[in-house]
Amino acid sequence: MGIALRLQGAGARHPAASPGARPALAPLDLRIEPGEAVAVIGPSGAGKTSLLHLLACALRPAEGRYWLGEAEPWQLPRRQLQRLRGQLLLAPQTPPLPPRQRVITALTAARLPALGFWASLGQLVRPGALEQAHAALERFGLADKLFERVDRLSGGERQRVGLARALLAPARLWLVDEPLSALDPTRSQQALDTLVGLARERGVTLVASLHQVDLALSRFPRVLGLREGRLMFDLPSNAVGAERLAQLYAQHEHELQAAAPLPAEILSPRLPVAGRC
Ligand SMILES: Nc1ncnc2c1ncn2[C@@H]1O[C@H](COP(=O)(O)OP(=O)(O)O)[C@@H](O)[C@H]1O
Ligand SMILES: [Mg+2]
Repeated sequence: MGIALRLQGAGARHPAASPGARPALAPLDLRIEPGEAVAVIGPSGAGKTSLLHLLACALRPAEGRYWLGEAEPWQLPRRQLQRLRGQLLLAPQTPPLPPRQRVITALTAARLPALGFWASLGQLVRPGALEQAHAALERFGLADKLFERVDRLSGGERQRVGLARALLAPARLWLVDEPLSALDPTRSQQALDTLVGLARERGVTLVASLHQVDLALSRFPRVLGLREGRLMFDLPSNAVGAERLAQLYAQHEHELQAAAPLPAEILSPRLPVAGRC
């Protein structure tokens, strides 16, 4: 069910970036197997969102190559590229939910990308669609919000509706950008456990950027560390260690966040921090 990803010397540059700016992503090599769950961490501006957009075929590589399954998306004719995009779900940090829309409509729409127009219309009245939407909301503690208007939800509730959409989307790859930024610690842990558990259950490939380092390390078997557009490490989470984290977040220590207090060995003042003498 999941899809494999491969980057070879692939770098990214935003079309609007000034010509002299460093690239959002320096060329990198990366291979993610179908069904793998990978977390991306690093201080803000590191390139996490750019990497997710590159993987979502929303940002074209400025150099190098990208394979999604067997295909090189950017070599495909437009129509095929669109079809391939229908197999991916990119959940942005702030879900672009139309304000006057009801939650139920936002959720039903998640099922549509792979369907044609008439089939999509049929979906809206299909028996069972309501139950599925309700069950997806329930997983994120929002069962009572099915008919609520999106603009009456809090930021955290909206973010969880964005995640519930992932459950309903017929996607083989979930790309989730800082899914927990508006959630309190307890909700963060629950939401992440739901997301990772379902990805595993369905065999979907999952790549999530996170600013809660402790959750990245405890819930994902593999972690990528990005800083200033460079891939600093790509390691099993139990091999990352406090020293690498300190280097990754050097001069950005305030961003070394955790859902729960970080373990003492990560925060220890005796840690060697890169760039300090
Ligand atoms: N739309 C954009 N136009 C120009 N530059 C951008 C754009 N989005 C991000 N960047 C730049 O790309 C770099 C990486 O940003 P981003 O991928 O958003 O990092 P992160 O998600 O880790 O905070 C930063 O230097 C940022 O300023
Ligand atoms: Mg970002």
